[in-house]
Amino acid sequence: MNILIKDINTLVTVDTGGQNYKTGSQMDELGIIKNGAFLFNNKFLWVGTTEEAEQKLNLGYFKPERVISAKNKTIMPGFVDSHTHIVFAGDRSNEFARRLRGVTYEQIANEGGGILTTMHATRKADLEELVENGRNLILSAMRFGTTAIEIKSGYGLDLTSELKILEAIKILKKEFDLPIVATFLGAHDFPPEFKNERNKYIELIINEMLPSVAENSLAEFCDAFIDKGYYTIEEGEIILKKALDYGLKLKVHCDELADVGAASLVASLGAVSADHLLFVSDQGIEDLKRAGTVASLLPGTAFFIRMPYADARKIIDNNNIVALATDCNPGSCYCENIQFAMWLSAINMRMTAEECISAVTINGAKAINMSDRIGSIEVGKLANFIIFNCNDYTDIFYHFGINQISEVWVNGKLSLKN
Ligand code: NIG
Ligand code: FE
Repeated sequence: MNILIKDINTLVTVDTGGQNYKTGSQMDELGIIKNGAFLFNNKFLWVGTTEEAEQKLNLGYFKPERVISAKNKTIMPGFVDSHTHIVFAGDRSNEFARRLRGVTYEQIANEGGGILTTMHATRKADLEELVENGRNLILSAMRFGTTAIEIKSGYGLDLTSELKILEAIKILKKEFDLPIVATFLGAHDFPPEFKNERNKYIELIINEMLPSVAENSLAEFCDAFIDKGYYTIEEGEIILKKALDYGLKLKVHCDELADVGAASLVASLGAVSADHLLFVSDQGIEDLKRAGTVASLLPGTAFFIRMPYADARKIIDNNNIVALATDCNPGSCYCENIQFAMWLSAINMRMTAEECISAVTINGAKAINMSDRIGSIEVGKLANFIIFNCNDYTDIFYHFGINQISEVWVNGKLSLKN
């Protein structure tokens, strides 16, 4: 069925002229069409102004089954949340309450809590419980405009439990129309049983987990938490190189707690994205740019665990490709609303509204290797878009803390109304 939407006050196309990502200063250009219109079925068929659309209707070039008027609305591509950990069990509200009393994220992790608290709950949970939790968070994320999402494993930390999480993601992929991509993060932490035998756990990852993940096509990407107190550069390199051998692409937690040189390592391995980057060095930023690796910033995490924000200005002004995502997880950022990441980025990381939008659309798509199919309103791409009850995209940042999305469309179908 062909549908025409016209009279759109502000149509934000995020057009890239076929490049399918935006670097530095390009992020400030959103391809705005005032009084815009577009024709679509499951994909975008035509994009232009309402005047042009009406001419084509009158001449009989367009014969849509439905015409929708979007007066006083802003429409933009659906958001891409390119970094989440939403398949897990249990919650860490007690740890959170302690953090509000001054205990740090690091102290809790050193006591054997943090990621390991969620690991214990996730190991005990059955598949259905994990699917249910993931489903609820996806549905909630969609209300805030997410129409494509990446989900990591990493709360199992043994073969069976890691596969169980990836299995849950596979079920969610079948359930939802929106693109979901899976990342294997067996190297999220060291499980207690291997605390004093780190090498043995790494052997388990490379000899058993990675082969099973690859043979059963359970993930597109491999990740590792390369940071102070977690995986060293050497350990990360062994795992990531093995993942490449198995045909996985790389999206990696880098330099979140300290600069350990992770960004430079993953750039040299051709990673699709390097994520967090709170403490990335100038060399790391430069290496990411040269490799075309997306710098993924996750300001919700810095906010939630009270860390300094990543230096978004420096990274964008260096002409890197920058994406924003939620990092939604039960410990360091329990928030699936990607607009919250946009608000934080605009105010606390000094990004412009335009840069924030590029970062959660086309560059988010690039960060999951899908920017040839999603992330902008361009002919041939999947018709995933969101309709806002406001005249201009700036209003999303100006009137913050509320959800101005009225409709979410996925593959050309109205998926939900708020
Ligand atoms: O992205 N950095 C590593 N992992 C998560 C935190 C996971 C957790 O606390 O459960 C993150 O911040
Ligand atoms: Fe993360």
